[in-house]
Amino acid sequence: MSDINKKISSERRDFDYGTLDESNVPESPKQLFEAWFKEALDKMVMEPYAFHIATVSKDNIPSTRVVYLRSIEENGFVFFTNYKGKKGQDISYNPNVCANFFWAEKERQIRIYGVAEKIDSEFSDAYFANRPRESQLGAWASHQSEELENHKELTDRLTELDLKYKDQEVPRPPHWGGYIIKPNYYEFWQGRAKRLHDRITYKKQNDSWQIKRVNP
Ligand SMILES: Cc1cc2nc3c(=O)[nH]c(=O)nc-3n(C[C@H](O)[C@H](O)[C@H](O)COP(=O)(O)O)c2cc1C
Repeated sequence: MSDINKKISSERRDFDYGTLDESNVPESPKQLFEAWFKEALDKMVMEPYAFHIATVSKDNIPSTRVVYLRSIEENGFVFFTNYKGKKGQDISYNPNVCANFFWAEKERQIRIYGVAEKIDSEFSDAYFANRPRESQLGAWASHQSEELENHKELTDRLTELDLKYKDQEVPRPPHWGGYIIKPNYYEFWQGRAKRLHDRITYKKQNDSWQIKRVNP
């Protein structure tokens, strides 16, 4: 066995940071999400806003990538991206997505199933207007997920755009904006000792949430 495989197969980590009990979780999963999110911020976990989002393509191939959470709304979680990129194309075909937050320092993950929808253009405009100019130009310059000849092609495009919008506000590209993930299922995972982890799930049923514990 190679050294790297020896290491991979022998490394063990026990979890003992906290517990999660169905007898004292809130009725609303959003409330629990926010409480955990706040604790992640307080604990200064690495990249608390980053989460994986999984989509499935038209030809049934699943893929994931990391994006940043940019807003928690009453009805869901917002991230921003290029609507014409791979994930945008996947979502336009199949809006069912899965999001996964992993906060290693808290030994927690939250899995969310939901439906992704484009947010109102006014919301995207407002967010875009507050982005640094470089990021605004980048949203025009990057033809997300398309093949690129080399890095120079991208920096050249950025230079052209910088000139084009010299002394002007950069408008939001119509193909760039936010999605809201409207959840219908949550799973809160808290690592426990001896692999006896806590997993509490919330399944949406009409206007309420059914809470269950599942095996680790
Ligand atoms: C920490 C981190 C944060 C990221 N945040 C975003 C984001 O908010 N929006 C985005 O479109 N891509 C973001 N990316 C890049 C995506 O992971 C991905 O490469 C890109 O969106 C293209 O994905 P796609 O080809 O599946 O559409 C981020 C990557 C990392 C590692």
